[in-house]
Amino acid sequence: MDPLLDFTGKTALITGAASGFGKLLAEELGKRGAALVLGDVNMDALNPLADTLAEQGIKVAALRCDVSSETDCKAMVDTALAQFGHLDMAVNNAGIAHGFIPFDQLTAEVLDQQVNVNVKGVMFGMKYQIAAMKESGGAIVNVSSMAGLGGAPKIGAYSAAKHAVIGLTRTAAVEYAKRNIRVNAVCPFYTHTPMVDEGNLSENKDTVHAMLASGCPMKRLGQPQEIVTVMLMMLSPGNTYMNGQAIAVDGGVSAF
Ligand SMILES: NC(=O)c1ccc[n+]([C@@H]2O[C@H](COP(=O)([O-])OP(=O)(O)OC[C@H]3O[C@@H](n4cnc5c(N)ncnc54)[C@H](O)[C@@H]3O)[C@@H](O)[C@H]2O)c1
Repeated sequence: MDPLLDFTGKTALITGAASGFGKLLAEELGKRGAALVLGDVNMDALNPLADTLAEQGIKVAALRCDVSSETDCKAMVDTALAQFGHLDMAVNNAGIAHGFIPFDQLTAEVLDQQVNVNVKGVMFGMKYQIAAMKESGGAIVNVSSMAGLGGAPKIGAYSAAKHAVIGLTRTAAVEYAKRNIRVNAVCPFYTHTPMVDEGNLSENKDTVHAMLASGCPMKRLGQPQEIVTVMLMMLSPGNTYMNGQAIAVDGGVSAF
């Protein structure tokens, strides 16, 4: 195995692991030797994934974790320590989008939902992950978005929450660098996961996707593997000096 992508003997925690980026990342890290602690609110999707991974000989624990609950976020870390003895990597990936809403129609309820899952999930997650990594070091990847790096028309509350993820990322990175904990954020452009192809962003999908693709230099949306490859790079044992970064993976959108 390429030593840059060899995670043998390491334990990785992934939230939102039942679908999209989280699911693919679990498969990629598992086949590269990592033991996995997977959490999601959708156990109907998470349990079969965990069973399939276990059948492949991958060490895996799956539990219901609603990342808006501090108790659930702590339970993920407790499970990693109890079952595998240490936590080396954590990916705070669970997230929700809201449908396209003009700014003057945004509501407090929509913002609250975004903050509860997309912001608190990352803060609560890192709080316990960092505590577990304090002596041994580790790598954390938070999933922000291109909407966290700049304005994002009609997804204003999501954009605010994803900007907050970058603030949390940079703060934790600076605070715990001396503990050898690296914290980075990945910022994808629209990518073909269930969130975009089937969820509340899929209204008028063909027209909207064509419009979004036309604004991208590569003239297409991303594929999940293209984002997960960058997450693997961020977690790589060879990537020891990258810290506190928010990296766009966007086909060149941010280069305009
Ligand atoms: N797909 C994109 O275009 C895109 C772009 C930028 C950022 N993102 C971010 O990537 C991350 C993963 O999204 P995805 O595209 O794979 O979407 P997805 O909908 O396929 O997967 C998200 C997963 O998170 C889970 N989840 C939702 N709320 C949760 C909660 N409260 N607690 C625990 N799990 C919860 C869902 O059940 C689902 O399994 C999200 O943070 C999303 O905001 C996605």
